[in-house]
Amino acid sequence: MQYGYFDDENREYVITRPDTPLPWINYLGCQAFFGLISNTAGGYSFYRDARLRRLTRYRYNNVPFDLGGRYIYLRDDQSGDFWSPSWQPVCRDLEDYQCRHGMGYTIIGSRYQGMEARTRYFVPLNENLEVWELTVTNRRDSVAELSVFSSIEFCLWDAQDDATNFQRNFSIGEVEVEPGVIYHKTEYRERRNHFAYFACSAPVAGFDTQREAFLGPYRGWERPLAVERGSASNSVAHGWAPVGSHHVKLRLQPGESRRTIFLLGYHENPAGRKFDPPDSQIIAKASVRPLIARYLDPAHVEAAFGALRSYWCGLLGICQVQTPDVHTDRMVNIWNPCQCMATFNVSRSASFYESGIGRGLGFRDSNQDLLGFVHMVPERARERILDLAATQLASGGAYHQYQPLTKRGNNDIGSNFNDDPHWLIVGVSAYLKETGDWGILDEPVPYDNQPGSEQPLYAHLERSFRYTLDRLGPHGLPLIGRADWNDCLNLNCFSDTPGQSFQTTTNKDGNVAESVFIGALFVLAGHELADIAERRGLGQDASGYRAEVARMEQAMRLHGWDGKWFLRAYDDSGRKVGSAECEEGRIFIEPQGFAVLAGIGLEDERAEAALDSVGEMLATEHGIVLQQPAFSRYYLHLGEISSYPPGYKENAGIFCHNNPWIMIAEARAGRGDRAHDYYLRINPSARESISEVHRCEPYVYSQMIAGRDAPTYGEAKNSWLTGTAAWNYYAITQWILGIRPSYDGLEIAPVIPSGWPGFQAVRKFRGKTYHITVTRSGSGNRVSLTVDGVPVTGNIVPLSNGSATDVSVEVSLH
Ligand code: BGC
Ligand code: NOJ
Repeated sequence: MQYGYFDDENREYVITRPDTPLPWINYLGCQAFFGLISNTAGGYSFYRDARLRRLTRYRYNNVPFDLGGRYIYLRDDQSGDFWSPSWQPVCRDLEDYQCRHGMGYTIIGSRYQGMEARTRYFVPLNENLEVWELTVTNRRDSVAELSVFSSIEFCLWDAQDDATNFQRNFSIGEVEVEPGVIYHKTEYRERRNHFAYFACSAPVAGFDTQREAFLGPYRGWERPLAVERGSASNSVAHGWAPVGSHHVKLRLQPGESRRTIFLLGYHENPAGRKFDPPDSQIIAKASVRPLIARYLDPAHVEAAFGALRSYWCGLLGICQVQTPDVHTDRMVNIWNPCQCMATFNVSRSASFYESGIGRGLGFRDSNQDLLGFVHMVPERARERILDLAATQLASGGAYHQYQPLTKRGNNDIGSNFNDDPHWLIVGVSAYLKETGDWGILDEPVPYDNQPGSEQPLYAHLERSFRYTLDRLGPHGLPLIGRADWNDCLNLNCFSDTPGQSFQTTTNKDGNVAESVFIGALFVLAGHELADIAERRGLGQDASGYRAEVARMEQAMRLHGWDGKWFLRAYDDSGRKVGSAECEEGRIFIEPQGFAVLAGIGLEDERAEAALDSVGEMLATEHGIVLQQPAFSRYYLHLGEISSYPPGYKENAGIFCHNNPWIMIAEARAGRGDRAHDYYLRINPSARESISEVHRCEPYVYSQMIAGRDAPTYGEAKNSWLTGTAAWNYYAITQWILGIRPSYDGLEIAPVIPSGWPGFQAVRKFRGKTYHITVTRSGSGNRVSLTVDGVPVTGNIVPLSNGSATDVSVEVSLH
């Protein structure tokens, strides 16, 4: 069953009924000001940091699930009837409801009693504000007298404090109101030099800024007193809960349309010029007024929307493909890169499943996310890499996360995840291959942001690598520390007390438990680092790294192989995890994917054997589960993984993040049919027709799909912010379609399904546009290249200094 359809031409998903199984959301903003918006206009906005600069309030885990947002109310002043064109919160029976989620914008509209209303929400490029552009059209054959009420609820900036510290917060709220503009200035009197504003383009009949005055006592958002009554009360908030609402009256002739623009923005004043007059407590507005005036002008708004469309056209235009499969095309060309930009911007901090206060930007996650967006915004990738590296500790280890506003690392959700440092190498090598910007390796970067500790970025990579060598276990494999990629495999935790954090509790010294997964990651990162060193003319460094990699590969062969698949780990007692010897958790997906992805086992039969075991034991129609058999009870020595009921999350859920590791591994093993088959099993578009089972958005990946042990098998959860976005994009574009940036040029190595006659692609790379046509002329994966009509040896389209900007690449696959 479907709740809408893809409009690929407009790069939109069109939702045609409001009661989707879960809120289906979109992201507004792509630089510093962000908003989350659901298909019924729920959600919130923030500036840079979803925790520290929250503009509007949102109550998570609410009933209904999604309540609170950018609501507009319309009231028929002749009958007194009122409704929300976005369905929620009033929830009348609407006609022609439609929500169009596009690239950085959302349009929601409907028709009710002959009145059509449509709101376009977006954040203009380079601005810290969002536009709501409401168009109301009278489709009746009589004059309509209407009232429009806008509404938002301000958050008192620090979202964590806002949701907990009521004894203070109920007394600090402050606003200023000018005709048409409501300013939210809580804490501006003291240490903040920022405020929010909510402006309206039409003359207002009234306003409200105190929640209780707008809603009325004992009422909710579905029946605000001001709306029911048809008049605002011009309330000025002192304490309690500041809101913003404008009341606008419209008189529309039959067929007439009227546009009203609302702006919600964030603004900063220089510390010494906060007030005007200087000795007053009144916000200085000289710098914000012209901005507001500009965006209340419909022509300017139209131009800003056009610029946003062009920006996305440019981003997506960097890699476009045309294959025989519509699901591949629309995910690669539109939605997957769109999701990659969201994970770049907010990492795992703010979605409808990430509260914006729990997690900042993760070191591991943000590095992996680079794989999905580095080609679109290389300069910003550069900045991100340097920011991440600056939080690295002198030991080579890493804070697990950092706050985007302060760019400082924090240990809020633990540290000593022994895989963390290697992801920096993975991210940097992806950046170098895409851009050829070798200068980044010479950038001085501090450790733990400590002035004076700066060393070239290259030295940070070296420390990342050494970090593991300093922490080898009894089998010569890496010690796992708190956990590796799988945050829930906690082999040193041994927690038996309710409420203890699996992320921060450690009861063992950590000198025994080893991770085969980190072994594989070390091999991958070590190869990358050696390649980098070689190209910098550091041959000796390179051979040193390669020697260590060879030693690790040997340890993996001797102690990381279980007979038919790779082992997962050794626990604190030196017992095997992920072995045929185990009663539960006999085989895990991570090492099968990552070892083969790192090239381990390709020279003997282990790679194929491991992948066959995955096919037999882990693959399901909804994707590949994380491990089997699921843990049926809590195991003290395994930790959080066994805290989940079977089939969910890391306990045998389909963790979509690591499915692409298997796709890449299959591609490396030359098995294109399997690689693409796995790709389609979790491809959201391919699952659109089972939306009632999948339940999350059909245009973006979710972190997890419930595994076959779960009663809700096939149900997705935690959409949008997941490493799944970057890894799937990387797997399909670079390993299945096989268009791969490399140091020497664009490598072409497709491993596509046997039934595909070929495909076409356009890829911009290092200043040139490559027009690639792949034609299958045999059943294998061997490639013959012709570049601008001239045959080329090997499978790399060499970099050229020629002046032509377009390069034509003919690929024969045989
Ligand atoms: C989740 C993991 C997540 C971890 C750290 C766990 O509860 O299951 O997926 O990585 O928390 O935030
Ligand atoms: C989600 C986390 O964001 C990521 O860092 C981790 O690797 C996976 N969960 C697996 O536990």
